[in-house]
Amino acid sequence: MDLQSLPDTRTNYDGQEYVDEKLMVPPKNLDELIAELRKIFEYDRVNVEYVKALLSAYRSNPKDWKKYAKFDPHRYTRNLVDEGNGKFNLMLLCWNEGQGSSIHDHADAHCFVKVLAGSLTETMFAWPSTESEEEAVLRETQVNTYPKDGVTYICDAMGIHRMENESHTDCCVSLHLYSPPFQSCTIFDQNTGHKNTAKMTFWSKYGKRTPFGDKENAPENN
Ligand code: SIN
Repeated sequence: MDLQSLPDTRTNYDGQEYVDEKLMVPPKNLDELIAELRKIFEYDRVNVEYVKALLSAYRSNPKDWKKYAKFDPHRYTRNLVDEGNGKFNLMLLCWNEGQGSSIHDHADAHCFVKVLAGSLTETMFAWPSTESEEEAVLRETQVNTYPKDGVTYICDAMGIHRMENESHTDCCVSLHLYSPPFQSCTIFDQNTGHKNTAKMTFWSKYGKRTPFGDKENAPENN
């Protein structure tokens, strides 16, 4: 057979790379993972299962990420690791014992999560009804706890969620990828379904504390 005519095994039916999870090469460290994510997200269409498989294949090693892991005693922190050439934001979220997020949406973005240390609980809810203005308790649809190296994914079509570290003894560190990046999202009150807009900010960027007074570091309310 003419070798030239063999298909490129990393290319799928419509010419898009990074589609078949079986062809994925496990990243040996966080830098390799980031390099691979940058290549994947160059394309407009992304295979969610491929990205999940890639994140699962990376084995968490604190040596790779400890410089980004910054904790705050009062709330979970969001620490920027990479801006993915403008295609995604990759960040470490650091959760002390009992810390959790609001219930929120993902502003039409993909949201991938990989647990790097400890465990993280995700509670999913159905969107509140848009038809009635009446207050209503949000309907819980699923609760899952992800251990170290566990991976999950959500987008707005799947519902809204809250993430929390339910442990009373261990902190949790998780890696989150949002594509496209977004600066605000909608948060929801669990008991009434009321909405508000929350600004998403970073506690640190590339391992350095975001300076106070920095416009981008206005108090978070997510
Ligand atoms: C998440 O949705 O994955 C966690 C919340 C956040 O990004 O602050």
